[in-house]
Amino acid sequence: MVDEDGYFGESVAASYDESAAEMFEDGVVGPAVGVLAELAGDGRALELGVGTGRVALPLARRGVEVHGIDLSRAMVDRLRAKPGGDAVGVTIGDFATTRVDGTFRVAYLVFNTIMNLTSQDAQVDCFRNVAGHLEPGGRFVIEVGVPDLRRLPPGQSAVPFRVEEGRLGFDLYDVATQSMSSHHVRVTDGRATYSSIPFRYVWPAELDLMARLAGLRLRSRWDGWTREPFTSDSRQHVSVWEKPAG
Ligand SMILES: C[S@@+](CC[C@H](N)C(=O)[O-])C[C@H]1O[C@@H](n2cnc3c(N)ncnc32)[C@H](O)[C@@H]1O
Repeated sequence: MVDEDGYFGESVAASYDESAAEMFEDGVVGPAVGVLAELAGDGRALELGVGTGRVALPLARRGVEVHGIDLSRAMVDRLRAKPGGDAVGVTIGDFATTRVDGTFRVAYLVFNTIMNLTSQDAQVDCFRNVAGHLEPGGRFVIEVGVPDLRRLPPGQSAVPFRVEEGRLGFDLYDVATQSMSSHHVRVTDGRATYSSIPFRYVWPAELDLMARLAGLRLRSRWDGWTREPFTSDSRQHVSVWEKPAG
């Protein structure tokens, strides 16, 4: 169901931390927070799509001043209810266009959330918005999957990403428009629930072009937060663009 909280309304927010439990593990969050804390240094950090604070809260515990933007009050309510939730400032709004006071040393958009912007224009706007928030020399970090089209034979549009007892997930691709959608079926006590969410998949080189349009330049691209090299076999990337100093 879509309401003013977008696709992250009350029912999704209530089960978000549990359904994304593997993303909350120390081995996943720790390296991300390590990279972001290093990039933030003694500056401020801006998280686009801050959600329930999976990354913002541990980053704030490292002593970084973190501000978040999110459309969903339901998600932000969960952040607020957690220990340290008051330490993270949040602005409710669309991160493609919402302005926050002040400038930031680092802005970040993780867990594929750039794809929640379902048009190229909105993704371009997001880069421009971030560039306007960065201090000279500041960095923008995105974590996102590489479009999984190599798993898509001609004539097929669905790619399963989860097939296990009680949980099924598949992505539907439209290669003509770069739109995709994820579909989730969960079976609990013999009853199935279904949800779906639309995305726009985006290529690494396309992100670099969006960055250039916003006056940013690629500094690093890794396979993940532990800074392994990005290769032709990489299924995801962590990319860092810089706003020129001066
Ligand atoms: C997959 S969750 C990620 C939350 C958090 N960053 C994390 O890593 O756990 C995506 C979040 O982005 C928010 N979101 C999606 N599109 C948005 C938009 N256009 N503007 C602001 N927030 C948005 C959702 O409400 C949700 O909280």
